[in-house]
Amino acid sequence: MTENRVVRLKSRPATMASRENFDIVDEPVPEPGEGEFLMRADYVSLDPAMRGWIAPGRSYVPPVEIGAVMRGFSAGHVVKSNHPDYREGDAVAGLFGVQRYAVSDGERAVRADTSLAPLEAWIGGLGMPGLTAYFGLLEVGAVKEGDTVVVSAASGAVGSLVGQIAKIKGARAIGIAGGGEKCRYIVDELGFDGAIDYKAQDVSEELKRLCPDRIDVYFENVGGDIMNAVLGHMNTFGRVAVCGLIAHYNATEPPPRLTNLRSILVNRLNVRGFIVFDFAERNAEALTALAAWHSEGRLKFRQDVREGGLDAFPDVLNLLYTGGNFGKLVLKL
Ligand SMILES: NC(=O)c1ccc[n+]([C@@H]2O[C@H](COP(=O)([O-])OP(=O)(O)OC[C@H]3O[C@@H](n4cnc5c(N)ncnc54)[C@H](OP(=O)(O)O)[C@@H]3O)[C@@H](O)[C@H]2O)c1
Repeated sequence: MTENRVVRLKSRPATMASRENFDIVDEPVPEPGEGEFLMRADYVSLDPAMRGWIAPGRSYVPPVEIGAVMRGFSAGHVVKSNHPDYREGDAVAGLFGVQRYAVSDGERAVRADTSLAPLEAWIGGLGMPGLTAYFGLLEVGAVKEGDTVVVSAASGAVGSLVGQIAKIKGARAIGIAGGGEKCRYIVDELGFDGAIDYKAQDVSEELKRLCPDRIDVYFENVGGDIMNAVLGHMNTFGRVAVCGLIAHYNATEPPPRLTNLRSILVNRLNVRGFIVFDFAERNAEALTALAAWHSEGRLKFRQDVREGGLDAFPDVLNLLYTGGNFGKLVLKL
């Protein structure tokens, strides 16, 4: 067995992370103990939350400590096992850290059934982003037939699934995304009812045009000015599922003020933040539904697979915060 390439946090970035914030080093491959297995990752997931995980301060999980292996999801194969439920060669996905080899007790891992979807989809549409879209829209957004759903970062890993699940549930889906290509994709390929290019169009004007009956569910991935625009078009008793605020993650200035707070009152909105882990005990149910929709051709997964190995991790991660990715961003090892 060769060395283990590992990404460790070296320092906390003030804004966008860079190569200087990480030590990317070779270390001995760890040995699995009793009840553990050793996996080798083929794909590492890049997730917007990674910027939050290396920030100091209180969050929904403790920050990655300086010197620790960067937190992250990956998918690969078991290469050695002392675990009763895993055998050498099994495909697995889970929270194994940003490294080539990882030892796991199976706690934060799932068996990746590659007959349902390719291995990399198990950190995408059938992984954390898929579960986020599923629970965020169905539980937090409480979507129902005939609703109008608006989602931001709509061509991305989570947003693209939110719009498609909205359609499956008989709702109208309007996506907000950056650029004509992403907007055409969500309408022409994914079946959204409309798209707004926030970089080229007036979001509020377009919402008025595309949502004549106003918005019942807003799935928030971005925050900032987009949130202000959408709040102004919410329907009575609308739901706002606050999933992410990516426009704020690298900000050095305070975010724009919430100018449409009054809409929460007069429309009696239910604005609720959530973290995908809140629903972890129901993951099996969600995976069954997501896999079935995917196999029926009703739920498409788009992967944005980048090369360059773990040394490319900091640069590839930053694509998420500049809109440089198009689909679920993963690093191929
Ligand atoms: N609550 C949870 O448990 C949970 C779990 C997973 C993800 N999330 C959140 O869900 C959101 C989407 O994550 P993802 O993995 O699906 O990423 P993604 O959408 O595949 O990629 C991020 C996208 O965000 C958009 N973006 C970046 N900076 C922006 C800005 N300043 N203004 C507007 N748009 C911006 C870009 O798309 P454009 O090119 O369209 O601008 C970029 O491609 C993130 O906020 C993430 O933190 C939350």
